[in-house]
Amino acid sequence: MAGRLDGKVAVITGSGSGIGQAIAERLAQEGADCVVDYIVEPEEAQDTVAKITAAGGKAVMVKADVSVLTDCTNLIEQAWTQLGSCDILVNNAGIERSADFVDVTEADFDAVLGVNFKGAFFLTQAFVRKLSAAKKPGRVINISSVHEDMVFPHFSTYCASKGAMRMLMRDLAVELGPQGITVNNIAPGAINTPINKSLLADKPKLDALLKNIPLGRLGEPGEVAGVAAFLASDDGAYVTGSTYFLDGGLIRNYHEQ
Ligand code: BGC
Repeated sequence: MAGRLDGKVAVITGSGSGIGQAIAERLAQEGADCVVDYIVEPEEAQDTVAKITAAGGKAVMVKADVSVLTDCTNLIEQAWTQLGSCDILVNNAGIERSADFVDVTEADFDAVLGVNFKGAFFLTQAFVRKLSAAKKPGRVINISSVHEDMVFPHFSTYCASKGAMRMLMRDLAVELGPQGITVNNIAPGAINTPINKSLLADKPKLDALLKNIPLGRLGEPGEVAGVAAFLASDDGAYVTGSTYFLDGGLIRNYHEQ
């Protein structure tokens, strides 16, 4: 059966685990070849490659720290040289650090803003430059967070990075629309992934959060991947400048503890 993404090539940052891994697997199931970006754990990225191959896709692994500009350019370049194109960019790599605002260090600020925002910014720039030269359309899908719009006390760096990602998405949707490049965000709430390891281990905190989620459970990475596949495919061709909240209703029902 023809897949919705047959003949497409996708770069998915941070695809060694969690949401990124699920998106890579899903895009491959829909027909895409994928570049798996990782930074520290080649074994995890290898696992993603195995899943892509099992789904019938081609996969290459590239080590890139998205907070480093030359790594961003190289990541996109590798997609073109090894897989022949780069049609879909999923800016998924993300980190968070908890600290009271008064204690946030310059190192924390640089790390969180560097991966979550600077990375998405310059990777998108490298992606668009290549598409413009090739006169091709493209899809940018940012994995932001409910915290692009919802407070998260003690995570000021994370909120700042995701809020910036929201405005970048809106701005680029307008600037890049005439080139046939769509730009959208998926804003997950609490998803069952490694970024929530400490939350999952803290039952009282988890129970309190679950009370605020109308659907009463965490989301699964595959559920985020389904929306990413939609936005990457022809079904999502007319969607640009939007944020898709994927949070079980959390953003409509947040109460500070
Ligand atoms: C954060 C999680 C948090 C969730 C809901 C996500 O963006 O990464 O740590 O549990 O939002 O607040």
